[in-house]
Amino acid sequence: MSAVVLVGAQWGDEGKGKITDFLAERADCVVRYQGGSNAGHTVEVQNEKFMLHLIPSGILYPNTLCVVGNGVVVDMGKLIEEIQGLQARGIDTGNLCISFRAPLVLPYHKKLDEIEDRKSCIGTTKRGIGPAYADKINRTGFRLGDLVVDRDGFKERFKQQVEDKNRIIQELYGEAGFDYKELLDQLLSQIEFLKPYLADTSLLVHNAIKEGKRVLFEGAQGTLLDIDHGTYPYVTSSNPTAGGACVGTGIGPTCINQVIGVVKAYTTRVGEGPFPTELTDELGETLRQKGVEFGTTTGRPRRCGWLDAVILRYAVRINGLTDLAITKLDVLDSFETIKICVAYRYDGQLLEEFPENLAILGKCEPVYIEVPGWQQDITGVTSYEELPANAKAYIEKIEELTGVKQALVAVGPKRSQTIVSRQIFD
Ligand code: GDP
Ligand code: IMO
Ligand code: MG
Repeated sequence: MSAVVLVGAQWGDEGKGKITDFLAERADCVVRYQGGSNAGHTVEVQNEKFMLHLIPSGILYPNTLCVVGNGVVVDMGKLIEEIQGLQARGIDTGNLCISFRAPLVLPYHKKLDEIEDRKSCIGTTKRGIGPAYADKINRTGFRLGDLVVDRDGFKERFKQQVEDKNRIIQELYGEAGFDYKELLDQLLSQIEFLKPYLADTSLLVHNAIKEGKRVLFEGAQGTLLDIDHGTYPYVTSSNPTAGGACVGTGIGPTCINQVIGVVKAYTTRVGEGPFPTELTDELGETLRQKGVEFGTTTGRPRRCGWLDAVILRYAVRINGLTDLAITKLDVLDSFETIKICVAYRYDGQLLEEFPENLAILGKCEPVYIEVPGWQQDITGVTSYEELPANAKAYIEKIEELTGVKQALVAVGPKRSQTIVSRQIFD
């Protein structure tokens, strides 16, 4: 039995797409379990670059089954665009399956996200994620399967929902509402396109695991964006942490035997909220430029800072990490010295654990250790042994501070720029 969960250990954009694609070569099945088109996962193979939002990052391998699980909120328009975009580039999407139970992101969710974010200032991706998950929890949402099996029931409930949402959008916010008939026609045409991809994905994944196939669960976002364990309210509206893989796909926790934390060699964050190791000076700008830290989904510049081991230890605990995949090590190539935050100072005390309260986090000062850089180009290195001594020392320091060993190190965006220390699906 080989089921592996891959999660972001920080605030997203750790390089999950790249690592998933790398591991997908040996996997039989890659499964997305939460989030939606707010995710932006980049895969680079030779001179081709793919940006994936809803489709699992295993899609470039025609024999790897790619599953969009029940926990993913689906914007049908975006999904169709993504499928057609891949097909236009010669990628076969016949290996894609989407859960009948996946909730829909509807045009009014995107409108509400846009309006509400002006007030809450979270800095969302405006993809309708929060409002779509809110409707799911409120039991006023719709699932893909509703458009296939009980169309009359759907139409009736949908009409009521459009009226309710219009009342909020028009009366509360004074903006233009939606035309029920227009929306319905659009949804009915979209579902015709997607119907062949729909499946009972919980059963598919369960059977794959039972048959001893290699299954990889690809998290979107990251630990600190988790609705329960992240920096609330500056979070997304789902559970990117490892536990989310079970509820977001319909498999039991006893099926999972490994959890990989993807760790960027420094820290970034998009959107608002506290960030103790943020660098607002030219060092931060250097990281942004060298790391090309601009959002894959929204193009926004990412906030950049030093690596934070307090966050990583928290990610180890919340996700039960068994392995690390350290990415973007090459971005630190030119630094003379590199800092790692090992604890926080708050109100005269030393904190070694990630604080429970956001107001405390906002006032935490990072306590740093400083280590020597390696000041040489590592983008062509293909084995761990070949890495400069100071690069290995940096990695070993991360292992020591987190108590978890690395299995993979990425030294560039391309599939080939990945160093394997320990095989994941052996
Ligand atoms: P994800 O959301 O976690 O999949 O990450 P993104 O794709 O949003 O952002 C990661 C960015 O870093 C992408 O542009 C990747 O191509 C790039 N990347 C991934 N790994 C590496 C690496 O090891 N080195 C460098 N220089 N870039 C990387
Ligand atoms: P990947 O999968 C980085 C952030 C947004 C915002 C907050 C809430 O590429 O790592 P949302 O639209 O989800 O309601 O926005 O979460 N956010 C991400 N940040 N990477 C992501 O995905 C993100 N998805 C959402 O910037 O702060
Ligand atoms: Mg991303």
